Amino acid sequence: MKIGIDKLGFYAPHLYVDMNDLAKERGIDPGKFTVGLGQDEMAVPPVTQDPVSLAANAAEQILDDEDKEKIDLVIFGTESGVDHSKSAAVYIHQLLGLNPRARSVELKQACYGATAGIQMAKGHIALHPDKKVLVLASDIARYGLNTPGESTQGAGAVAILVSASPRLLDLESESTYYTEDIMDFWRPVYSTTAYVDGKYSNEQYIAFFQKVWKDYQEQTGRSLEDFAAIAFHLPYTKMGWKALRTVIEDAPEEVQERLKNNYQISTKYNRNVGNIYTGSLYLSLISLLENQDELKEGDTIGLYSYGSGAVGEFFSGKLQPDYKKHLQTAEHQAMFANRKCISVAAYEKVFEESLPTDGSEKQLNIDEDPAKICLAGVKDHIRSYAAK
Ligand code: CAA
Repeated sequence: MKIGIDKLGFYAPHLYVDMNDLAKERGIDPGKFTVGLGQDEMAVPPVTQDPVSLAANAAEQILDDEDKEKIDLVIFGTESGVDHSKSAAVYIHQLLGLNPRARSVELKQACYGATAGIQMAKGHIALHPDKKVLVLASDIARYGLNTPGESTQGAGAVAILVSASPRLLDLESESTYYTEDIMDFWRPVYSTTAYVDGKYSNEQYIAFFQKVWKDYQEQTGRSLEDFAAIAFHLPYTKMGWKALRTVIEDAPEEVQERLKNNYQISTKYNRNVGNIYTGSLYLSLISLLENQDELKEGDTIGLYSYGSGAVGEFFSGKLQPDYKKHLQTAEHQAMFANRKCISVAAYEKVFEESLPTDGSEKQLNIDEDPAKICLAGVKDHIRSYAAK
């Protein structure tokens, strides 16, 4: 029985900052951001987008009426959810008009939440092969203005439809995972920005990769030669390469070239969006599938997920026949083409905008946000959304 990814949607807010502009404004050599970190542009969420609306916009792209009827589990992975009690999945359920006979829940483990969601979705589909699961990965990455993490911010969401008839990627049952209680990146409940031990987080990302990759090799007998490409969680696009290069020398030159080339392609969208935490790995997968024409049916794709704190997982999937026809390539390219570059001053203004937290009312102007689904305001501590 196959279980895997049937559809992939992606949404990023319509505003972005050019990393060259940000570097100049911060008195930093632009090469540090564009080469050292590998980031060209950073998505900026207007106040009319939050993790709920971003995810709704990503999912809206891919779901047809049959999907909406068959989805009986919605799993929302996020590090930047909008409520400590009510799950973001319930809002989405209502906004998209899904069949109410469903379970809806939010999962948290930093950037790893959606991967846990996908693995749980596989179990659910194994028991109920006629159903579908919607896994959402949506986040706004915030470290703060003028902080070392600022250049690795971003915003966006990926929607992943898991089913027993996957048209994109058949997820294999083998996967290896590892948990250890460390403090490399975290966000206490009272803080709107993340705390991070930057260098340590880089080291741990690599150490976790090495552990789960070693376990995966032992469990499956596979080596790098068996992979057409490996997609990585990308807090910034240089990060995955720092991990891959520690193991790539074991492979023949031709395999090294292939993995290196496909790695570059898998970073294309992320370079222009920044970190979207839970969605970053899946944005990288979308980037690979939509921008690489040489992959073919049956090719094995590896995926490395890392959520600070920390949990790492390595898993894999096989590309399905005609998968290219079932991607949203044109929609995603149009979305990138229609984004608007804003100045650093404008980004700083947007960054400081917030909703009232005292229960007072604020209605937002959604006319300038081209998204189909927007956050429209708040009143009595209740957020309201509008679908255009
Ligand atoms: N031209 C080219 N390259 C340059 C350069 C220039 N002019 N100036 C500097 N560089 C290079 C540096 O040599 C360095 O390269 P290496 O890492 O290959 O050595 C790179 O640019 C970055 O420079 P620094 O290490 O000096 O940068 P920094 O101290 O400002 O911090 C950071 C970088 C630690 C990533 C910081 O942005 C940060 O804390 N970000 C948030 C945490 C993060 O993203 N961690 C990643 C792993 S954790 C994770 O994956 C979970 C998650 O999503 C958060």
